[in-house]
Amino acid sequence: MQLSERISRISVSSTLAVVQKAAQLRASGVSLVDFGAGEPDFPTPDNIKKAAIEAIHQNFTKYTPTSGTKELKEAIVERHAKDFGSNYKIEECLVTVGGKQAIFEAAAAVINHGDEVILPVPYWVSYLDIVNYAGGKVVPLTTREADDFQVRASDVEKLITPKTRLIIVNSPNNPTGAVIPDEEMEKLLALAKSRNVLLMTDECYCQFLYDGRKPFSLGHSGDRDHLIITGSLSKTYAMTGWRVGFALGAKNLLSNMLNLQSHSTSNPTSISQKAAVEALRGPQDSVRTMLAEYQRRRDKIVAGLRAIPGITCANPAGAFYVYPNVGAYLKKNGTANCQALVDRLLEEAHVAVVPGPGFGTEEHVRLSYATSTENIEEGLQRMKKFFVEM
Ligand SMILES: Cc1ncc(COP(=O)(O)O)c(C=O)c1O
Repeated sequence: MQLSERISRISVSSTLAVVQKAAQLRASGVSLVDFGAGEPDFPTPDNIKKAAIEAIHQNFTKYTPTSGTKELKEAIVERHAKDFGSNYKIEECLVTVGGKQAIFEAAAAVINHGDEVILPVPYWVSYLDIVNYAGGKVVPLTTREADDFQVRASDVEKLITPKTRLIIVNSPNNPTGAVIPDEEMEKLLALAKSRNVLLMTDECYCQFLYDGRKPFSLGHSGDRDHLIITGSLSKTYAMTGWRVGFALGAKNLLSNMLNLQSHSTSNPTSISQKAAVEALRGPQDSVRTMLAEYQRRRDKIVAGLRAIPGITCANPAGAFYVYPNVGAYLKKNGTANCQALVDRLLEEAHVAVVPGPGFGTEEHVRLSYATSTENIEEGLQRMKKFFVEM
């Protein structure tokens, strides 16, 4: 079968590849500690599930407006206003099938062939493939582990050329958990304005901030011309399978993204939309409970990883990932590279982690600590034994 040039620009996500390998091992009876999957281990809160069941009983099971129901768009802009002081109108809100669709559609709507897109490294795997698919060229912005993977507007500025169309930032970051300070975010928007480029802020993990940090969004700025926000209910409300995300931004941009949506998925699932309204308008204490638990787990996993000789690990300020440096163990005992190390860790120690190269760095692995404390303790023990004996 002859395939298009366009489709050959994307490849399978390294995160999904690990999930598949881990599933095969588990199916063969192996007791696995899985740090691979990037999704909450908590169930979707009951009030949200009840709203979905009610939606089915009410026969709310047909097409909705492609851009999402008015009720859900109102709930999204209200929650965003409450949490971040923004003032989006419902025409400036598009409901999407997960945050991923919002990112995909925004990229498709603004990137022309050969346009440059500045992307801090390490990055979430899908940005790279989405930009490539849209015909753009990723311009990587290196960040340093010793500097807690900080993104600085002054470094971004050095990469701006006449071809720059878009800057993508994700704070808290997947895979590092790094958080861009509020003042630096303001500087990034000021830079985007002054150089007339678009800034995309992916707020997927915006509610998961540790050590008392307050959630922040550039949405409060009122800027529509240089800012597109993408958001998701997947992680905040443990709703990964429900597939609800959104975009907030200029009406004209969103209406073009909507055109693409109207010819691909149409509306997000009607039932999920009712559940999402309850998630956003109902009690928020489940979010706080999850956050407190993630912070306890972060403390445990960072301490455990740092206790393994040779491993260094930046302290994540948000999200639920750690990104330790395993460089000291690469090329040891015939281990060719990071992928080979991850394969050995899976096959010999039965611990699943995601290799760094998919996120743009050669010497790290990503662990998701959205898993039980028992799993974290067991996984740390197995890793310590594996690395010490390597
Ligand atoms: C940084 C980031 N953005 C966006 C998403 C998309 O999430 P969803 O499509 O489930 O809303 C993810 C999912 O892992 C992510 O890690």
